[in-house]
Amino acid sequence: ARLAILLSGRGSNMLALAEAVRAGALRGVAEIAVVFSNDPAAPGLESAAALGLPTASLPSKGRKRESFDLEVVDRLKEYQPDYVVLAGYMRVLSPAFVRAFAGRIVNIHPADTHQHQGLHAYEWAFDNRLSETKITVHLVDEGLDTGPILAQQVVNLVGADTLAEVQRRGLAVEHTLYANTLADLIRKEG
Ligand code: GRF
Repeated sequence: ARLAILLSGRGSNMLALAEAVRAGALRGVAEIAVVFSNDPAAPGLESAAALGLPTASLPSKGRKRESFDLEVVDRLKEYQPDYVVLAGYMRVLSPAFVRAFAGRIVNIHPADTHQHQGLHAYEWAFDNRLSETKITVHLVDEGLDTGPILAQQVVNLVGADTLAEVQRRGLAVEHTLYANTLADLIRKEG
């Protein structure tokens, strides 16, 4: 299956997926058709280019959501993706975008989406001194972090006494869970 990975920042999940395609759970299962960003200066875009992956960007700054998204959809379609994989893409998708790739958009959220939606999920877990949090991979629907859950994995936060440590433990889980869940989904759905 062909993946379009969308990011706005660091890109550690994109790198983990690229590694899984090269030599892990996604090997022989998926290929990265494009890494796209709404921010041409996103560090993750540069990391993708350094790996030799195709990259594309369109600046979203100052753009209205719907007209921007329609342009992104057109751009992505040039790469014929089977799945749109959100990896720290910091924009809420418009209904038109969601409909253009219905049932084929996947997101990773660093909390249980039943308990927490939107930004700052690790801060939320840390501030509330949770003893565990759950990483969630879900299909994207028209709501914010409301789509059907594909997989969840618990992160033990006992003894994680800084936000950095909470993030470190969480990201380690994100990086394996995302690739494994996509591999299962692609095997099931094609
Ligand atoms: C991750 O925590 C992801 O779950 C969330 O945004 C962050 C992106 O990090 N949606 P990275 O850019 O993949 O390093």
